[in-house]
Amino acid sequence: MAMNNHVVINEVGPRDGLQIQSRVLTVEQRLQLVNALIDAGIRSLEAGSFVSPKAVPQMAGTDQLLAQLPIPEEVAYAALVPNQRGFEMAMAAGSRRVNVVLSATETMNQKNIRMSLDQTRQVCADIMARCLADGIEGQAYVAVAFECPYEGPTSQSEVLRLARDMFAAGAAKVIIADTIGAANPSQVSRLMSALIDEHGADRLSCHFHDTRGMALANVLAALKLGIREFDSSIGGLGGCPFSPGASGNLATEDLALMLQSMGYQTNLDAIDLVPVIQLAESLTGAELGGHSYRWLRRQHDSRQAQGAPA
Ligand code: COA
Ligand code: ZN
Repeated sequence: MAMNNHVVINEVGPRDGLQIQSRVLTVEQRLQLVNALIDAGIRSLEAGSFVSPKAVPQMAGTDQLLAQLPIPEEVAYAALVPNQRGFEMAMAAGSRRVNVVLSATETMNQKNIRMSLDQTRQVCADIMARCLADGIEGQAYVAVAFECPYEGPTSQSEVLRLARDMFAAGAAKVIIADTIGAANPSQVSRLMSALIDEHGADRLSCHFHDTRGMALANVLAALKLGIREFDSSIGGLGGCPFSPGASGNLATEDLALMLQSMGYQTNLDAIDLVPVIQLAESLTGAELGGHSYRWLRRQHDSRQAQGAPA
């Protein structure tokens, strides 16, 4: 086993997952889901976003959610912000970790947050600098890093430029996102190698969607290069409302199961995620579950039958 066998699983279901659901959950229901995830062992989680409630009604009340999050001293909770206004709201709500999003193409950026890419770079750089100055963990997502639903294949040099900008501004981490789940492992190796050469693996993370069933293969490609942090979403919940073709995120249970089978430490046992998936299903009314869900459910049921502690 390599030197570092700890992998951080950053759960994004409560944000990336819920934002596309037709059923809008109450703050209490969102909190119920977060509590279940924390009980199962999640220690890094994107709790919500400070965006226009007209654009994304699912994320209204994120300030109230943040105020009630369990064991904040033990969990890295992040809030996503699209602009300065969102950043001020996150600060007022006491956020300690803030995520900004730059899309690597002009059209995606406009569709998502109605700013040009140049404006967005400026706004995100300002927010990252404020984070650095104020002791907040600033993280920058580079969305559609492989392919854009509007502009096609993404230029690698553009992704490298955006990552460079954000680190220069003070970002603690850059997260490379395959927003529509179009990447393959060769592309992941190529882009992540270039990024690692410049910035090192420790300050990079990956966010994959499973649209074409290649999310785990993409994780493996990045893992081999030394990446030790990945986003995933419970039951594969999610997508992006502004990005046609974006379907579910990589499911947390699939990621956790693969990593634990390979001997990596994640603080999770995938079987313990079964009741969390069931809760997410009952809250959203959506049919959820990654590739391993049926198998995990059988393991969970036989554990229950043997009278093991729930
Ligand atoms: N949080 C809450 N409200 C916000 C806001 C924020 N971060 N930023 C702007 N607003 C409000 C404005 O006050 C204004 O409210 P009003 O209509 O009551 O006066 C309204 O939103 C529109 O403001 P404007 O500056 O004209 O923004 P816009 O209409 O161009 O929308 C965004 C820009 C960024 C606010 C909006 O597109 C958005 O929230 N997008 C989020 C997309 C998202 O979550 N994508 C997925 C994650 S990357
Ligand atoms: Zn996503």
